[in-house]
Amino acid sequence: MTQALATHAVKPDEAVLAIRGLTVTFGGAGKPVRALDGVDLSLAKGEVVALLGESGSGKSVTLRSILRLHPPKRSRIDGTIHVEGIDVTSLQGRALEAFRGKTVSMVFQEPMLAMDPVYTVGRQITEAVRKHEGVSESVARARALEMLTLVRIPSPERRLQAYPHEMSGGMRQRAMIALALASKPRILLADEPTTALDATVQVQILLLLRELQRELGLSMIFVTHDISVAVEVADRIAVMYAGRIVETGSVRDVIRSPRHPYTIGLLSTRAHGGRLEGHRLPAIPGSPPDLANLPPGCAFAPRCTLAMDLCRTTVPEAVALGGGHLVRCHRTADTVDRRAAMPPATTAGG
Ligand SMILES: Nc1ncnc2c1ncn2[C@@H]1O[C@H](COP(=O)(O)OP(=O)(O)O)[C@@H](O)[C@H]1O
Ligand SMILES: [Mg+2]
Repeated sequence: MTQALATHAVKPDEAVLAIRGLTVTFGGAGKPVRALDGVDLSLAKGEVVALLGESGSGKSVTLRSILRLHPPKRSRIDGTIHVEGIDVTSLQGRALEAFRGKTVSMVFQEPMLAMDPVYTVGRQITEAVRKHEGVSESVARARALEMLTLVRIPSPERRLQAYPHEMSGGMRQRAMIALALASKPRILLADEPTTALDATVQVQILLLLRELQRELGLSMIFVTHDISVAVEVADRIAVMYAGRIVETGSVRDVIRSPRHPYTIGLLSTRAHGGRLEGHRLPAIPGSPPDLANLPPGCAFAPRCTLAMDLCRTTVPEAVALGGGHLVRCHRTADTVDRRAAMPPATTAGG
């Protein structure tokens, strides 16, 4: 694996975020759940990486690990996370508080969970700015107004006085982005920030995020289960399956020359005009494994039309294909002809 890392597109000195061998196991009453298994992920300054995968593949767990949001008593975390050269796992107390929001900030799918229903939007942004920068009330209020203007909320002065529930879903999402950016973070984590919105508003919020990312020079990890969204927003794609990154590369490489049978399957769902979590049956027959009972080999093997004995016994190491394109598949040499890995057309519609 170390060999594969050395060939990664992002050189360590350029990476603002470097995750190595991240393994997250949740304990509890039953068998331990291994939500992440050896995740390697880098983010360069100003880069947008889309984390793509079906529901339950570990996308949110990855982002929450960066902010150290997992319950310490019920989770075991192995591997390393460095942000701007600092070991995130060593942060304590005030340093951790400052890190959350000031260095790395996050927007969620559901703004109501991130915002406090009893305070106005203006108050929440003002408090966040004061907490992180120790500036006066009037300076913080001016920043709040500036932030609402930045996220293109109409009549921003009036909106400062609004409570979250008084806003539409799209406006609330804009307000949450304003809150996340108010303390001027350098890294933004966005966890399916548009999934709860209707299609037109989704597009507006995506465009806004992309504009802001460029305007502010943010580095961003963007979680989605929608390939079209990943293509629209990202420079690079990392495809997750059952807690592992199975393929990563530039958007161009992953979309034009997908090499993991799972990625190829996801792309065929797009080619058929389907969404991954739409009403249609998935184009990849079968379902993801139980994370408490992972198969010994490749987690995708039970659903893979190309699986051979080795796939069922041994987890594949990352194979480097050049230009930062990495694939964890024993059949990488055979998936050049991507049609070979596509599920038979007759199964796509059920
Ligand atoms: N705090 C937790 N305790 C136990 N299991 C968890 C916890 N957080 C996430 N998981 C499990 O980890 C797996 C991956 O979850 P998640 O990262 O939320 O998936 P997604 O890719 O949909 O964002 C799921 O099976 C989920 O049930
Ligand atoms: Mg999630």
